[in-house]
Amino acid sequence: MKEKIGVIFGGRSAEHEVSIESAKTVVKNLSLAGYAVSPIYIPRRGAWRRVAPAALAGGRLAGTDMEPSFGKESFMLAGRPFRLDAVFPLVHGSTGEDGILQGFLELLDLPYVGSGVLASAAGMDKALSKDIARKSGIPLLPHVEISGRDKKSVAAALKAARRLGLPLFVKPAQLGSSVGITKVKAFNDLARAVAFAFQYDWRVLIEKGVDRAREIVCGALGSPLDARASVCGEVRPKGRHEFYDYEAKYLDDNGIDFLAPAPLSVKTAGRLRALSVAIFKALGCCGMARVDFLMEPGSEDRFYFCEINTIPGFTSHSLYPTLWKKTGLDPVKLSHRLVRLAIERQKAKSRLQTVR
Ligand SMILES: Nc1ncnc2c1ncn2[C@@H]1O[C@H](COP(=O)(O)OP(=O)(O)O)[C@@H](O)[C@H]1O
Ligand SMILES: [Mg+2]
Repeated sequence: MKEKIGVIFGGRSAEHEVSIESAKTVVKNLSLAGYAVSPIYIPRRGAWRRVAPAALAGGRLAGTDMEPSFGKESFMLAGRPFRLDAVFPLVHGSTGEDGILQGFLELLDLPYVGSGVLASAAGMDKALSKDIARKSGIPLLPHVEISGRDKKSVAAALKAARRLGLPLFVKPAQLGSSVGITKVKAFNDLARAVAFAFQYDWRVLIEKGVDRAREIVCGALGSPLDARASVCGEVRPKGRHEFYDYEAKYLDDNGIDFLAPAPLSVKTAGRLRALSVAIFKALGCCGMARVDFLMEPGSEDRFYFCEINTIPGFTSHSLYPTLWKKTGLDPVKLSHRLVRLAIERQKAKSRLQTVR
């Protein structure tokens, strides 16, 4: 009998729409890999629902309401137990990529693709992931963290940030999709950028900026003990996009050029690939992650870890699957590999001693 895989998508972040597109692609690829696939949609509000694969492919999201269950099976569908062998969470951003959904799946005792609670939460937090990267000797841009909105904390942070020079990038600690991010080119604009980022989070980072940075991305795949890296790619924001902002990411069909493999020397690409695996392991990631670096234009020696995405986009033109395709692993095999890793992890976990 075919193994049954639930693909969980949608969710409550700004990346709701891209998640739907990711799900369409992964559902198709898992079917081609021989699984029985159940798309599970999390609407912005209301009950989770099972959508028929053909409906999802046609962009229709109506379906049957589901409920979590703590019995033998993890879900109930139309009042009946609904068996799944594993799930593939494809919910980007808050509540999907930050450990919250992963914790819920742990309680349901379901094997799931991707990182566990701790690595997901650490990966989502730009301050914490940088702290962990620093401990592993991974090069970083200096930043100032502001964790209080009171006048004194903000004034002290603004003062410290001046020492970093211009430009600066101000960002909420835990978000994605470039939401809440400002490139600051004059110190007079800094306070406003900080206030804007505080609309999205109660912790904010002011980071030294790299002007016209090259953006290099690399895919990591595997377990914390045994991971490997894809070729590196390069994202080049185009036209009026001064950096890889929300619009360039999602609204402008022509917002970026993506070069894979990235035009880098073999030596630099090798170093970035090794660093991607190092950060994946340092955070204790599992399954997949896309690691993003910033590089000074004109000097391949000066590059910095920017962030890690533990649930990268999975549409047919998304960076992560494209990187693996260019490395020789097609999207069908990639999805299959990720499901196997999820099931292997669950088996390894069930062999651990527990004290009851
Ligand atoms: N320190 C920096 N120097 C130059 N560009 C930056 C810097 N930080 C962020 N950016 C730009 O902003 C984009 C989004 O920042 P990032 O930290 O990746 O947040 P997000 O999680 O929203 O993608 C990056 O892809 C890059 O274009
Ligand atoms: Mg980013």
